[in-house]
Amino acid sequence: MKKIGAGLQFNVYDLGNGRVLRKPKKEFFQYLTYLKWSPQLIFQPKRFSNLIKQANQDREFAINYFKKNKSAFDLIGNPNFNLEEITQHKVIPFRKLFGKSYSEDKKLIDKYILFTFECWKNGFADRIYNLDNNFGIDKNDKVILMDFFEITTEKEKIKEAIKIELWKKSAFYRYRLQRKSKNYYSEKMKKNLTLENLNKYWRKNEN
Ligand SMILES: Nc1ncnc2c1ncn2[C@@H]1O[C@H](COP(=O)(O)OP(=O)(O)OP(=O)(O)O)[C@@H](O)[C@H]1O
Ligand SMILES: [Mg+2]
Repeated sequence: MKKIGAGLQFNVYDLGNGRVLRKPKKEFFQYLTYLKWSPQLIFQPKRFSNLIKQANQDREFAINYFKKNKSAFDLIGNPNFNLEEITQHKVIPFRKLFGKSYSEDKKLIDKYILFTFECWKNGFADRIYNLDNNFGIDKNDKVILMDFFEITTEKEKIKEAIKIELWKKSAFYRYRLQRKSKNYYSEKMKKNLTLENLNKYWRKNEN
């Protein structure tokens, strides 16, 4: 089984059948991962342990939420939950698709916005807005939220995100999106991620 990636919460392996396996990281390795990103945390032990605790709570929350909301499975790569381990469709991460050309970036952004409406219809939203690392495209060319472990299900939180344009704070927007695409992204997001659209789509797929 080939390891294809790792973040704070999981090690990710290619199962070779169009699916990936996510194994939760042991807490010790989560601390190491965080230290690599932010070495100064070693001097803030309370904050450090709270960050890890929060990440694990977020993961548990999302897993419990999606176990009860199967109508959203298509959006998150048709996961299968087996004790602590999760399998999911393999996708091409957006990271590998962004930055090739302006016209490709625009297409990805348009697809992402339509996808966000689908998430809203199911009553949830990603909170991080790092499109490149957390989203991908499946073999049918559909957008998938592969990292579905940092979500909100509170409309108020999404309203707040819209109000402050939270997506502009993401590392993806600040450091990794090329300049021309950045303008396109911020204009498109402002025009589409609106309170009006949130009210229009929110929980439309739920009974
Ligand atoms: N379904 C998938 N298909 C293909 N690759 C995947 C899939 N899920 C994860 N990966 C790969 O594994 C990496 C780690 O995934 P994961 O979503 O757990 O963390 P991350 O978003 O990179 O980091 P963090 O934990 O900080 O959010 C991804 O960046 C991606 O390269
Ligand atoms: Mg992530």
